[in-house]
Amino acid sequence: MSVEFYERIWMWAAVVLLVLFVGTILITATGQAVHPPSHMETIDPGALADSPEFSNPAVTVHSDGTVVVSVVAQMFSFSPNPIEVPANRPVTFRLTSADVDHGFEIVGTNANAMVLPGYVSQFTMTFTKPGKYTIGCNEYCGLLHHNMTGTLVVKEQESPR
Ligand code: CUA
Repeated sequence: MSVEFYERIWMWAAVVLLVLFVGTILITATGQAVHPPSHMETIDPGALADSPEFSNPAVTVHSDGTVVVSVVAQMFSFSPNPIEVPANRPVTFRLTSADVDHGFEIVGTNANAMVLPGYVSQFTMTFTKPGKYTIGCNEYCGLLHHNMTGTLVVKEQESPR
């Protein structure tokens, strides 16, 4: 079978584009922490009150310096609010919903997760810029969806230990 010269050029151009696109996905996914939610931990949304972690969602600083934030999303607020975390330290967010699907987007960062009843969404991120950030729900969850916001306060670290 003979393939025209120009046909061959376009075939190779298509292959190059494919490699470029897949490469872009791989590089951003591994290098820049752009990734789909993958944490498949389940939880009974009706029994959050009995959960040691989510009955009293809070920011926990462990002795090794890691920070874990447990968050419950519920029509139409996030708990705790505000969320205070230190700057320049990995902060792991663990999110779940007590009712319907919500979103958890920290405006101005690439933190953006779905919060689903029955699941714990988890991601870790380091905030380098101290300040106040708005947290928004970006899944339509009811009449007051547009009012469902929270505040993240990133605090400058006190003198290094
Ligand atoms: Cu919660 Cu929209």
